[in-house]
Amino acid sequence: MSSIVSQPVAEKLTQSAIFLVVTLAPEPRVDQAVRALCADLSSLLRGIGFRHPTRKLSCTMGFGSDTWDRLFGGPRPAELHPFREIRGEHHAVSTQGDLLFHIRATHMDLCFELASQIMLRLGDGVTSADEVHGFKYFDERDLLGFVDGTENPSGQAALDATLIRDEDPDFAGGSYVIVQKYLHDLTAWNKLPVEQQERIIGRHKLSDIEQADAAKASYAHNVLTNIEENGEQLQILRDNMPFGDVSKGEFGTYFIGYARSPSRIEKMLNNMFVGNPPGNYDRLLDFSKAVTGSLFFVPTATFLDDVPVDETPAVTPATDEAASGAAPSPDGSLGIGSLKGEPAHE
Ligand code: HEM
Repeated sequence: MSSIVSQPVAEKLTQSAIFLVVTLAPEPRVDQAVRALCADLSSLLRGIGFRHPTRKLSCTMGFGSDTWDRLFGGPRPAELHPFREIRGEHHAVSTQGDLLFHIRATHMDLCFELASQIMLRLGDGVTSADEVHGFKYFDERDLLGFVDGTENPSGQAALDATLIRDEDPDFAGGSYVIVQKYLHDLTAWNKLPVEQQERIIGRHKLSDIEQADAAKASYAHNVLTNIEENGEQLQILRDNMPFGDVSKGEFGTYFIGYARSPSRIEKMLNNMFVGNPPGNYDRLLDFSKAVTGSLFFVPTATFLDDVPVDETPAVTPATDEAASGAAPSPDGSLGIGSLKGEPAHE
């Protein structure tokens, strides 16, 4: 029996990422192009990643609920459904998205090249719903100034938190992912005394040390997102990234959470947006507005490799401009930094 390989959901957190959510035009040729990309993604990753093996290029590809049925039919992951909006003290919106590409590397060049190649392959029936280029800020901090990611599980615990096992044997090795793009009101946040910011997060800002349980506010972010079942903590794996557009006054956090069941993340969201008990909501949301929200299933890499590709030509390739704004060279790449004149810095 051949072994099943998961997509790199529990990959080490990197310095750069592109979060690309796209929608698919309802045309058979677009389905063909997506299926062809599934089968080719590992080869694209090898081709681009090998140019800088130390820069740790990785990509996970996720499918929305309707997209899964449309592309693959047949059995479906047990807990796959469209993202459910939450209307509580604050609003967690549900927004469109058929496919997610979470592209990570230590440097943006590799992320950018892979995203460009993916769009080139998908062709002109695929449009961007949202594209965010994330970066790591000083000391792994978010733009609110707090270190983000400290309590993430690692090693085996990260795999146990994210990968489906016997609960859904047909999809074992797969995962679920929820993404939300948050915009911060940094002016209002920065007016808060640091002690109040620390009560909202539940950690000390400078040292990143967790507050003592007895000292934490009941609405602290790390109280509301700490959930248990039968006395055991239910963990998720986050790889949030700051992003922004300084001249437009846009400062944000791109939330991305992987879990073996979306219900874990949904429970956390409910605690944050409605409150636990209702009304005891996450004050982070008074300063952070969720402007997107989508849920995707992440099948195994083995599944993607085995997606059958239709024989007929798939798609009219996107125009060069549409794909990247740069003219590709005959080898189909953007033709930058490949053969000569490559910067030597690492
Ligand atoms: C504006 C968006 C968000 C920001 C800026 C943010 C920031 C933070 C920070 C600074 C921490 C403490 C350090 C750490 O352990 O990582 C934290 C912890 C955590 N966050 Fe968030 N977060 C956001 C959204 C979310 C969402 C939407 C969820 C889940 C639905 C979530 C789940 C968690 C969890 C599980 C922890 C660890 C709690 C613990 O066990 O200590 N976060 N977050």
